[in-house]
This record gives sequence, structure tokens and C-alpha cells, in this order.
Amino acid sequence: MKSLGILLSGRGSNFIAIADSVDAGRIPDARIAAVISNVPDARGIAIARERGLNALVIPSKGRPRAEHEREVAAALKQSDVDLICLAGYMRLLSPWFVKQFPQRILNIHPSLLPAFPGLEAQEQAFAYGVKISGCTVHFVDEELDHGPIIMQKAVPVLDTDDEHTLAARILEQEHLAYTEAINIVLAGNFEIVGRRLKKK
Ligand code: GAR
Repeated sequence: MKSLGILLSGRGSNFIAIADSVDAGRIPDARIAAVISNVPDARGIAIARERGLNALVIPSKGRPRAEHEREVAAALKQSDVDLICLAGYMRLLSPWFVKQFPQRILNIHPSLLPAFPGLEAQEQAFAYGVKISGCTVHFVDEELDHGPIIMQKAVPVLDTDDEHTLAARILEQEHLAYTEAINIVLAGNFEIVGRRLKKK
């Protein structure tokens, strides 16, 4: 049985999609061992509580990054997590934190990286005028929205789109992509060569 740790800061729709996949057996032989929010009133953490999961708030506001990260890392280690999924966790992780969990932290980002890293990626893509955008699940390294790519899904930008309709169609694909990426990583039959993830 593999244990997942989820870090989130807000709405939590990617967390819910992962939790639904675990419950439905689409992520086999896994459980969610901890859901941690750095934002006390995040909707995602309320839902984690409603679902009876181990839900923790570790506030980051007004605290030194190192102190906050030490507490988050300790909680994840205490729950013995095999894999950490950032699900709308709006904080850059320090090199120290990343080193605590080598190749065991995933992030989802709502663009086809390396295009449009950072905040409001869907709005950035829409304003740039790209005809195809999408989402990316990748390993976390020391740089923002940067590590080796596990899975991407493309989403066409339609003439009828605005930022909101595009973001909503990307989000549907995010929910599918995260489950697929988690299954790839938990299965473990891959190697990373440079930035490339290849099946063994
Ligand atoms: C998602 O669109 C996720 O890809 C994005 O935040 C949103 C969180 O939504 N993450 C990033 O932009 C990371 N750089 P959710 O709370 O409903 O999962």
C-alpha cells in the first residue's frame, strides 16, 4: 500500500480528483495519508476533513520559510508518505525541502511547460494567443514549475474561448492527468535521463 501526501492552498479540485481516483481504485493500492494546507480557510482542507482524511493546517503566513517547511516535512515523514502531490500549493519549495524527498514530489501546472510558468498560466496563454495549451505534471526540483515532465495533455484554444472557459477545459484535463502521472510514478518502471522520463 502506497501512501500519498497532498499539499494544497485553495480550492482543492485536483486533490478531490486524486481522492476520487483512490476511492474508485483508479490509483490502485494507495491511500491518502495526509492533506496539508498552508492556508487555514482553504476549501480543499475543509473537504479533506469532511472526507475523514488526516487534514492538517500548517500556516505559512508571517513565518520564516525554513521554519514552516521543517514543520511540513516533519508531518509528511510522520505520515510515512511515499509520494507528495502538490495540488494548487502556491509556494515555492526550497532546495532543502526538495532534497528531503528526492524524486518524490509531483506538481501540476495549467500550461504546456516550459511555456507560461508561474501564476495565472491560463490567462498568460490566452493573452499570448497560443492555439494549443494544456497541463503538465512534473517532478519538482529547485526551480519554479521546472522539473522533469511525467505527463502532458493538450487543450485547443477555441475562438469562442475566454480565459475562464479555457481554464475550465484545462482543469478537466488536469484531473485526468494527475491520476495517470501518479500511476506512472508509483509503478516505478521508468528512468530519468537528463530531463527525459523514459519507460524501462
Ligand atoms: C490548478 O489549475 C493547478 O494546476 C494550479 O493551481 C490550480 C489549483 O486548483 N497550479 C499552479 O498554477 C502551480 N504553478 P485546485 O486547487 O482546484 O486544484
